[in-house]
Amino acid sequence: MHRTVICPGSFDPVTLGHIDIITRASQLFDRVIVGVFVNRDKTVSFSVEERIDFLNRTIGHLPNVEIVGFEGLLAEYARECGATAVCKGLRAVSDFEYEFQMALANRKLNPDLDTVFLTADAQYTYLSSSIVKNIASFGGDISGFVPACIHDEIKNRFSSQ
Ligand code: COA
Repeated sequence: MHRTVICPGSFDPVTLGHIDIITRASQLFDRVIVGVFVNRDKTVSFSVEERIDFLNRTIGHLPNVEIVGFEGLLAEYARECGATAVCKGLRAVSDFEYEFQMALANRKLNPDLDTVFLTADAQYTYLSSSIVKNIASFGGDISGFVPACIHDEIKNRFSSQ
């Protein structure tokens, strides 16, 4: 059976924690769709085109991974692209309640959709896009948190503000 999974998120910007989860998902599933959520109500630091470009440059080499932007309900988008699972990372117990709620709601909306959780790598359990942006905005070193090939662009975005 051919199994397609979606790794959804804002990826504003992608971090090494996201890369770890997507890479591991690509080893578990036949096809991975990285869904970059286009949320018109949320203020983002990077446009959807930039976020997709960052992901392409970091995980674009993985043969079974596709990076796309999506709008609307995840449960509907999963149906459209033939995905039977959503894959998300759990970094700490505090992620659990929110993720559990989303998983149940998504399954109610699309009964064919399951959610699988991968435990975040121990070295990334504290990491989030906001932490990266906060450190960058104070001129701190973000090299341990984001892929090297996009490091300068993220740093420059915040140093110019
Ligand atoms: N490594 C590093 N950071 C991680 C991470 C990991 N493995 N997993 C999550 N994070 C961080 C993100 O960086 C982000 O950090 P930030 O808040 O500092 O920006 C934070 O966790 C939340 O992740 P984010 O991707 O922004 O949002 P989300 O997990 O809340 O969900 C969607 C995003 C796209 C999955 C969700 O909004 C969605 O499904 N939207 C579609 C609309 C819909 O269907 N709504 C009904 C849902 S039931």
